[in-house]
Amino acid sequence: MDVRRVADLDEFTAAYNAIGEYFGAVPSEERIQRFTRLLPLERMYGAWSNDAVVGGAGSFAFDLAVPGGNLPTAGVSVVGVLPTHRRQGVLRSLMRAQLHDTHERGEPLAALWASEESIYGRFGYGLASFCGEITLSREYTAFAQRFELQGTLRLIEPEAVRAGIPPVYERIRSQWPGMFSRDDAWWENRRIDDPEDRRDGAGPKRWVAYERDGSIEGYAVYRHKPGWDAGTTSAELRILEALGASPEALRDLWAYLLAIDWIATVKAYLLPPDHPLFLLLATPRRMRYRMGDGIWVRLVDVGAALTGRSYSGDGSIVFDVADEFCPWNEGRCKLERGRAERSKEDPELLLPVSSLGSALFGGVSFAALRRSGRVVELREGAIDRADALFRWDRHPWCPEIF
Ligand SMILES: CC(C)(COP(=O)(O)OP(=O)(O)OC[C@H]1O[C@@H](n2cnc3c(N)ncnc32)[C@H](O)[C@@H]1OP(=O)(O)O)[C@@H](O)C(=O)NCCC(=O)NCCS
Repeated sequence: MDVRRVADLDEFTAAYNAIGEYFGAVPSEERIQRFTRLLPLERMYGAWSNDAVVGGAGSFAFDLAVPGGNLPTAGVSVVGVLPTHRRQGVLRSLMRAQLHDTHERGEPLAALWASEESIYGRFGYGLASFCGEITLSREYTAFAQRFELQGTLRLIEPEAVRAGIPPVYERIRSQWPGMFSRDDAWWENRRIDDPEDRRDGAGPKRWVAYERDGSIEGYAVYRHKPGWDAGTTSAELRILEALGASPEALRDLWAYLLAIDWIATVKAYLLPPDHPLFLLLATPRRMRYRMGDGIWVRLVDVGAALTGRSYSGDGSIVFDVADEFCPWNEGRCKLERGRAERSKEDPELLLPVSSLGSALFGGVSFAALRRSGRVVELREGAIDRADALFRWDRHPWCPEIF
């Protein structure tokens, strides 16, 4: 088997079609062309067997917000192996080539959303965030405390979205580890574009901007899925994204969304477990929050990745990292005053690189990793010290599956 980057659009299409096999649809040439604006040819790999493409894997080039920083990241996606060639090591070869090149390109992180949680741990990815969906009945949308709306809301059309929303997203992203950068092509193709076949029975996207003191401070995008039942509404409001640059903006946006008339149920997805709604609502239990795994993170360059975030203190810690898949990461590494470097000092924590991926954003504590047998404390107190350093003021939040 031969694994390499695709050379042209035909090879790209063949590699993409490995995952396409599981999507139940054949993308048009036009859609593939547009997709290459987000994921260019040089970031897509194919696996060939007897001159036929049997697998593919690609990665977007993102900047990912990390605590107090921002790191170039391979946003791994469109991973698939034809059912005729499954469990013959095709994925393993693709992962190896992809991580090797990610390292060569100098991207210290790789991140992904996993179709199944069982796949990526073996390649050094750690579960770094949790998120969940809510299904809230319209009659349980009361807030726990009274408040005055601080800003105003305005429905906006794509032209105004293009002009006004990306800068707000970027402002919010700088506060929230887990959010990735979106360039113009991403905004156009993934957020603003609204083809019928992606609406899943609902209506078009509606965009609302939240303004305070003359500038946009938050926004939401949602769809109505109309419905009637016994003469009353059974309509759903599907919230695709609701983000605010301040606590007031986020609260006021949700107050707006939850008060929209002629809706029976509000649905939202990918909300972090510390989302303010839990404390804003009078009856948060009624959200029926169902949590699962969010993004998975892999340190491709342990030193650069650890150095790329800020810490909640000045202490130090010496890790002994196991990384069979990317051997350049193996060994001792000392984190001190925000910098991580190779070290000969006695290690204090022994862990696989996937555990560092879980801990990097502060979303999973070292104490939790220890309770699940994913880190060994070699010096007493090292877990507490590491947690004091890595702690951050919020759970990582990636509001979009890529
Ligand atoms: C998931 C998928 C890419 C795996 O490809 P593959 O070529 O069969 O994987 P490999 O043969 O290289 O397997 C490598 C290892 O992963 C394991 N593995 C692969 N897929 C797995 C799965 N779905 N669940 C659990 N383990 C899995 C293999 O058992 C093997 O384990 P080992 O390290 O103990 O030997 C393929 O099954 C597929 O295309 N699935 C449908 C689409 C999909 O889910 N894509 C991922 C999108 S995020």
